[in-house]
Amino acid sequence: MQAVAKKKLFMLDYHDLYLPFVNKVRQLEGTTLYGSRALFFLAGDGTLRPIAIELTRPKSASKPQWREVFTPASGHKASITGSWQWQLAKAHVVCLDTGYHQLVSHWLRTHCCVEPYIIAANRQLSQMHPIYRLLAPSFRFTMEINAQARKLLINADGIIESTFSPGKYSMEISSAAYAEQWQFDKEALPEDLIRRGMAVRGEDGKLELAIEDYPYANDGLLVWDAIKQWASDYVAHYYACAADIVDDVELQAWWKEVRTKGHADKKD
Ligand SMILES: [Fe+2]
Repeated sequence: MQAVAKKKLFMLDYHDLYLPFVNKVRQLEGTTLYGSRALFFLAGDGTLRPIAIELTRPKSASKPQWREVFTPASGHKASITGSWQWQLAKAHVVCLDTGYHQLVSHWLRTHCCVEPYIIAANRQLSQMHPIYRLLAPSFRFTMEINAQARKLLINADGIIESTFSPGKYSMEISSAAYAEQWQFDKEALPEDLIRRGMAVRGEDGKLELAIEDYPYANDGLLVWDAIKQWASDYVAHYYACAADIVDDVELQAWWKEVRTKGHADKKD
């Protein structure tokens, strides 16, 4: 419990998202799947060490639920079997992590979810509109890249479906993550770090990182702060007060379309 109080324990949780797909994926030839939870201890040198992995297969029509916790084999408990089971448990977590990275962190959160902003901007904002001019360089090539991805990578029988362990269910997992996890006001880097327990906001409003040597957060926040400063200065130049935003019919139409058409099932 001391480790929990001192924020030395971290969990990589691939249980809830993957579990509904486990039995379906297991019916595909030549593949298998579990839901996993991996527990890590933050060591004195600032590195995360895996200390336990739980693998779960839910109940199916013919079998009861199966769940087991694996730990690194050491000391008098060491056995060849235990050691290999630990290696295999780690391999399962790495596979789920790779799948999550590509299907959720990469495709969903960087490529896919930005499309509604681009489409609505092209439909609702004049090319001379200051917000269009601000956004255009960032999404200049996105639709083209995404179209290529739909042709080759995420299409039925495409590269992702034929090489990722969830097979033809890969994109369905991405969609499930969108439904369960994606939320506009939690996607900003600082909010994302807080939501994942990797940072807390101090009383002075500054973020305190749970792991000091975490380049994704440290470097990412530098980039985030620079972009935020630049975008804020730019927007403030054109919009002196809230009424300017309310009265901008193009801007209002853009934001309405983003919420109600682009992210129709996420609208507030
Ligand atoms: Fe990419």
